[in-house]
Amino acid sequence: MTERLADMTGLTPLTEIAASPDLHGTYARLREQWGYVVPVLLEQGRRHPINGWLLLGYREILDVVQDERRFARNPELHWRDYVEGRVDPDSGLAPMMFPRPNAYFADGETHQRLRAPLDQGLLELDQHAMARRIRAICTELTGDFVGRGHADLVAEYAAHIPMVTVANTMFGIDMEHSRRLHEGLLALFGSGADSQDGYLDVQRILTDVIAARKKAPAADMTTAFLRHPNLRDDTEVMQEMLLMISAGYETTTIWIARALLLMLSDPRFSGRIRGGTLGVNEALDEVLWRDPPMTHMPARFPVMDCRIGGRQITRGDALILGLAAAGSDPRIHPADRANWWQEIDNRAHLGWSAGPHTCPAKGAARTIARIAVETALHELPGVTLADPDAPIPLVPSPWTRLPACLHVRFPTASSAPKTVGGIR
Ligand code: HEM
Repeated sequence: MTERLADMTGLTPLTEIAASPDLHGTYARLREQWGYVVPVLLEQGRRHPINGWLLLGYREILDVVQDERRFARNPELHWRDYVEGRVDPDSGLAPMMFPRPNAYFADGETHQRLRAPLDQGLLELDQHAMARRIRAICTELTGDFVGRGHADLVAEYAAHIPMVTVANTMFGIDMEHSRRLHEGLLALFGSGADSQDGYLDVQRILTDVIAARKKAPAADMTTAFLRHPNLRDDTEVMQEMLLMISAGYETTTIWIARALLLMLSDPRFSGRIRGGTLGVNEALDEVLWRDPPMTHMPARFPVMDCRIGGRQITRGDALILGLAAAGSDPRIHPADRANWWQEIDNRAHLGWSAGPHTCPAKGAARTIARIAVETALHELPGVTLADPDAPIPLVPSPWTRLPACLHVRFPTASSAPKTVGGIR
């Protein structure tokens, strides 16, 4: 096929693929029709449809993310549709695909310069202190509904944990300001009428904590960023903080929600709650294989024409990493292995992507997600899905599959004694 991506019409919207109830069946059909590199519609656009290539193969994704000289990250220089002004300025693709001055959108030496403080800061965190604070935050959240007998573990729990725990436990921002930061960033991402107010509040909070740490350094990542020679001024420190606080928000929420859903619905896991076999870490790993939080990761842009998976790709096309699809690539699993995700301790999935931009916060994110799942199961003994047969609705997105809700029931403290020998 030599047709140019921009000229293709009638392509499947990426949001439709992400919303598929049988995700891996959909990938199998797409592979059959197109091979491992599939043209998709990223957004209809008011003036032009915006297309991209969705990579469905484990090897194809690895080849791209590990070769940053041929496949760049910076849309400002390398995404043809963006450079030529074809993407609407208020496009829904903006939050994930429009450039900002941080490590995420940088290449080569600039990326190395901005990435080093993230890796260094994470390495120096006091893991034990962090774990204690996360547990306290999760317990406080369950305390809001433990006496009620039912809850939505997405809206009332998982969605509140990641930003607040990162702001509080990593950057040393007090709880009240961490909660305000969470609200401000949600307003900003929502691009509604309160978006600018939200951003001003976020800037005020970060400016204050930066000023406070200059006067009184502490054992946190704000102080580590201020001391790091790679960051040139307070604006860069603030951009790095903003990236860390927002990058893991939706992904960690999804990870917690999906692991809870798996543990409450699959007898191999729900068995554990009643004395069975598989535990929280196995559930977290299985989610990363079967339905990783970042379903489709944008984007890489080839800096020259090339071939991927036998398909001709033009310089400047958008390549989307099908991280969920990589998990069910039939070439990496034995053909007779129907339940390919059930390989305990196999962490070779691409849930974190790979190469220079691989998620720097794998350990921290696991600590947050593990403690969040453990705490919910421990604090809500006897918890079950409210309606085990109801399909889980998803928040529409081309990139992620966030459960819109996770309704559960549990005996209230007055109606049932706590189990002895809980998970903690
Ligand atoms: C505490 C929570 C988290 C934080 C602070 C965090 C932070 C970050 C940051 C700063 C980046 C950009 C790195 C770079 O471009 O050099 C990133 C990338 C990424 N993160 Fe995370 N993250 C978190 C949780 C997660 C979770 C739960 C997942 C999914 C399992 C995830 C998956 C990814 C992926 C796929 C990328 C992109 C890699 C690529 O472009 O190749 N992250 N993360």
